[in-house]
Amino acid sequence: MSLVTTKEMFEKSMKEGFAIGAFNVNNMEIIQAIVDAANQENSPVILQASSSAIKYARPIYLRKMIEAAVEENNIPIALHLDHGPDFETCKSCIDASFTSVMIDGSKYDFEENIALTKKVVDYAHERGIVVEAELGKLAGIEDDVNVSSNDAMYTDPQQAKEFVERTGCDSLAIAIGTSHGAYKFKGEAKLRFDILAKVKELIPNTPIVLHGASTVIPELVNMCNNYGAEIPGAKGVPDEMLNKASKLGVSKINVDTDLRLAMTAAIRKVFAENPSTFDPRKYLGEARTLIQQTVQHKIKDVFGSSNKI
Ligand code: G3H
Ligand code: 13P
Ligand code: ZN
Repeated sequence: MSLVTTKEMFEKSMKEGFAIGAFNVNNMEIIQAIVDAANQENSPVILQASSSAIKYARPIYLRKMIEAAVEENNIPIALHLDHGPDFETCKSCIDASFTSVMIDGSKYDFEENIALTKKVVDYAHERGIVVEAELGKLAGIEDDVNVSSNDAMYTDPQQAKEFVERTGCDSLAIAIGTSHGAYKFKGEAKLRFDILAKVKELIPNTPIVLHGASTVIPELVNMCNNYGAEIPGAKGVPDEMLNKASKLGVSKINVDTDLRLAMTAAIRKVFAENPSTFDPRKYLGEARTLIQQTVQHKIKDVFGSSNKI
C-alpha cells in the first residue's frame, strides 16, 4: 500500500464514531513502534512530524523510514506535517510527498488566519493533498509559541463554521481545554464538550482534530520518576474523556507527550537496573516495545480504530 491522505479514514471515522491516532515521529524506533501497533490492531494511522522533528531527523531520512514502514505494512498510513508555521514549510512538505499538512494560523487574528490557510489550501488541493487548520488557542506551550492558561481561547463554533466555509480546509483543530505537554490541568481535567457538540452541529461534515491530547499516563510518569526523573504533578486528558470525544465526532487525536514519556521511562529503567549496559539496541529496543504497547492501548481501548481499515 502507498501513503494515503486522511480523506477516507476521516469519512469512516465520522460515520462510525471513532478517532484515528496521530502520533508524532522523530526517529526510527518511534516510527516502527507506532506502525507495528497499528498493524497489530489492523487500524489506520497518521504519522506526523513537526518542523523541528523534520529538522532533527533530516527530511530525507524521515521520508525514507516512512517509505519503509509503508512498504512493510498493509494498513492505511498518512504522513502529516504537524503545526506547519508558514506557507513555505507546508509547500516544502507537499512537494516532498507528505499527504497531509497542518497550517497553524492560530497565532494570527481571524482574517489573517483565513488568508494564510486559504493560500495553503489552494496549493495543496491542486496537488491532491489535504489541509488541517486551527482555530482557537490551546493553553500551554505550542511549539515555540507560548500561550498562558489565562489567555486560553476556546474555539467559537460560529467562527469555526465561517472559517471552514471561507478557507475550504479539510479538517479543523479546535480548542476545548486541552494543551500541549505534560501539564494540562492544575486541578481536575475539564474539557468543553458543549463546544465540541455545537461545532459538530454547525459543521457536521468537517473532521475535528484534538491537539494536546496525551493522557500523560500516570504509570509512565511514575516509572520515569521512580527511575530518577523529576516530573512532579504532571496531568493529562483521561482515557474516558478521549473515548467520549472519539464517539462525539473528534476524528483525529494528537499524541506526542505519552510517547516521550514511554521512551524515557523504558530507557531510564534499563539504565537504573543495568548500569553496565551500553548497547543502544538494549535500551532503544525496550523503548520501542513500551511505545508500541502505549500506542496499541490507545488505538484499541480509547480511540476505537481497531479493525477500521
Ligand atoms: O505539538 C507539538 C508536538 O508535540 C511536537 O513538538 O515541535 O517539539 O517536535 P516538537
Ligand atoms: P501532547 O503534548 O498532548 O501529546 O499533544 C501533541 C500534539 O498536539 C501534537 O500536535
Ligand atoms: Zn499540537
